[in-house]
Amino acid sequence: MNKQVYTRVAALLLSIPILVFSCQSPSEEREPKRGLIAEKAMVVSARGEASRIGIEIMKKGGNAFDAMMATEMALAVTFPFAGNLGGGGFAVYRLANGEIGSIDYREKAPGAAHRDMYLDENGDVIPGLSTKGALASGVPGTIAGIFEAQSKFGKLEPKEILQPVIDLAKNGFVVSTQQAGRLQSIREVVREVNGENTFYGKEWNAGDTIKNIALAETLERIASNGRDEFYQGETAKILVDHMQKMGGIITEEDLAAYEAAWREPIVFDYKELRVISMAPPSSGGVTIGQILKMVEPYDLQAMGHNSVDYVQVLTEAMRRAYADRNYYLGDPDFVEIPIDELLDDDYLKERMGSFNPEMATLSADIAEGKVLFAESMETTHYSIMDEEGNALAVTTTLNGAYGSKVYLDELGFFMNNEMDDFSSKTGVPNMFGLIGADANSIAPGKRMLSSMTPTLVERDGKLWMILGTPGGSTIITAVAQTILNAYEFDMTMQEAVEAHRFHHQWLPDQILFEENTLDSALLKALSAKNYLINEGRTPIIGSVDAIMLLPDGKLEGGADPRRENEAAGY
Ligand code: GLY
Repeated sequence: MNKQVYTRVAALLLSIPILVFSCQSPSEEREPKRGLIAEKAMVVSARGEASRIGIEIMKKGGNAFDAMMATEMALAVTFPFAGNLGGGGFAVYRLANGEIGSIDYREKAPGAAHRDMYLDENGDVIPGLSTKGALASGVPGTIAGIFEAQSKFGKLEPKEILQPVIDLAKNGFVVSTQQAGRLQSIREVVREVNGENTFYGKEWNAGDTIKNIALAETLERIASNGRDEFYQGETAKILVDHMQKMGGIITEEDLAAYEAAWREPIVFDYKELRVISMAPPSSGGVTIGQILKMVEPYDLQAMGHNSVDYVQVLTEAMRRAYADRNYYLGDPDFVEIPIDELLDDDYLKERMGSFNPEMATLSADIAEGKVLFAESMETTHYSIMDEEGNALAVTTTLNGAYGSKVYLDELGFFMNNEMDDFSSKTGVPNMFGLIGADANSIAPGKRMLSSMTPTLVERDGKLWMILGTPGGSTIITAVAQTILNAYEFDMTMQEAVEAHRFHHQWLPDQILFEENTLDSALLKALSAKNYLINEGRTPIIGSVDAIMLLPDGKLEGGADPRRENEAAGY
């Protein structure tokens, strides 16, 4: 019996009594479900237009880095929920020759920012100040990031790459039903922040075509003048003027000083896999590394996908990893982070030493101090593979849905509310009920901690998977489960993306299951072991966009049906 068949049969047999909530684990009885298959190149993103523009650029002779610029800007046009010019992100790459690297274009705190800027005279956090309005924004990094990556590795001229995006902004995109619901739900707050006549304050319904002429003009100036148009040109002046009129503190000096940063990715082995992910200021790489290495010694296949035992061991690893994340991680340019120690095999073995299969570990017993970290759920990810063999995993965000809700009508985009990813006050919950740690306190020019986890996976020395997801603090656990689904349970890319997910982040001490996946037998079995379970309505956990390289050299897209993700390829 070959390994794949053995794995599937073993997982099936061994999991029969305890397989309680995965309806999507593959079985021998049915054909595997595959995503889009392409011969040479693929883009998977949150919007079909953005995936197709990336493909169009590659068909014109561009590579993955040219497609990144086009896809990212097309998301800014068609997916203002998270696609952006006013936010930031991270990209992890692997070139055709095996060379790896990453670029950090995370926002930075403005020069006038300070540790207590969201506190009142009594030292209490002022609700809403770090999430809504001009004071909530960090200095945007997106334009710097895409130009830095494209100028180093791309092949085409930015003007050629941006032209189809400019055309898209001018000709418009059609509002989907999901999008119409989102736009309706934020209309009032967008009008409150920006005035009644603001562009996204209008009534947009499903089927309407949105033409964003202001954004087309901004992109035309950027296409002609390059990245400095955004940081030092007319666009910079309009941005600063607008933000300052609204009480913001971003200055022309802050924009002029912004630079994206090349960073060494986090690299670790999981069995025969080599995982390459984002380093701080994203917590993604370190935390996914801790989780996967903590579960590595356990026979997950024998436990069965999403069985009680599987949920338990993964939960205990997640709990321990998030406790470390919340305490140790921040901007590496400002704080010392013991990355090697956090990923050390002996350390992680010792961390799991207190795991008792009979009973839940209490989060209160895991670490000193009640530090907690999480972000909002709105972000977006795209994965790209070009025909030369270059791979890119890119996650980008405004933080909350439509960021700070500040919309620059003259420029055609929303500004981020990424300042809320800092801890406004150590030990005190922010407006989401979350508590932050000292390593992630606010300082001028500092980058706020992120959970974004753009990730590449090699198998037997060859590129195997490109993946990532939105989902705030659930990003890391969604990416970890997608890798385990494919590797341990031999799921196809599409199956691995679709399978039900769960999440634990140390505090609050509860397991979060996706809606309608919590089976009563699972609940009973976990409750008997003292696990606290969120039984209320739960959101989706992530919305993964992934690509798998198949043994025959073809590409399989995994476009998450939880949202409107779409793969395009040729
Ligand atoms: N704002 C979401 C994140 O950076 O993780």
